[in-house]
Amino acid sequence: MASDPFRLFDEWFAEARESEINDPGAMALATADAAGRPSVRMVLLKGHGPEGFVFYTNEHSAKGGELAENPRAALLFHWKSLRRQVRIEGPVERVTEEEADAYFATRARDSQLGAWASDQSRPLDSRATFEQRFKEVKARFEGTDVPRPPHWRGYRVVPERIEFWMDRPYRLHERRLFTRDGERWSEGLLYP
Ligand SMILES: Cc1cc2nc3c(=O)[nH]c(=O)nc-3n(C[C@H](O)[C@H](O)[C@H](O)COP(=O)(O)O)c2cc1C
Repeated sequence: MASDPFRLFDEWFAEARESEINDPGAMALATADAAGRPSVRMVLLKGHGPEGFVFYTNEHSAKGGELAENPRAALLFHWKSLRRQVRIEGPVERVTEEEADAYFATRARDSQLGAWASDQSRPLDSRATFEQRFKEVKARFEGTDVPRPPHWRGYRVVPERIEFWMDRPYRLHERRLFTRDGERWSEGLLYP
């Protein structure tokens, strides 16, 4: 029987929502530049399904630059309360402008303003400079909806491999690896 890694992900994610003290959707995002130098940071999962796993960020950030040079990524969820991890790997594409606009519109107004005020990953001389920029954008958009900054984008990691790791006694852990070949997913096990 064909296995469905997305249903399994949904089940684990639902359990994590119940048990994690905060941010069950927090995931480590690993990218690498054209020379293969890796970097990793946390982002929040904002959409997922067979088409991919979506997060939002500033395309001028360090990660945005790396994804422009080398559009592949790895994601890692570690749900400590469940002693489980999920690893996802694959190419990365941008979400459409419409999808990004729709998600941006659901954010709190101050988060929207923050997206304009933050020059993400660039050097900042003082906290006061950032607060001043925030005040300026607040004044600029007074009385109007805050549009999505053009550099604030969604990225979708299109999975080719998804591994579910589950703690078992005596480190005899369980690893289920799903791999995609075209449209077809197959499942196997890995030694822990
Ligand atoms: C739990 C958590 C969630 C985060 N979520 C996001 C996010 O969704 N998007 C984002 O751009 N940065 C997010 N950040 C900040 C990033 O980890 C990082 O500091 C920032 O994006 C700059 O990364 P870069 O310089 O590698 O591009 C989050 C940080 C934490 C700790």
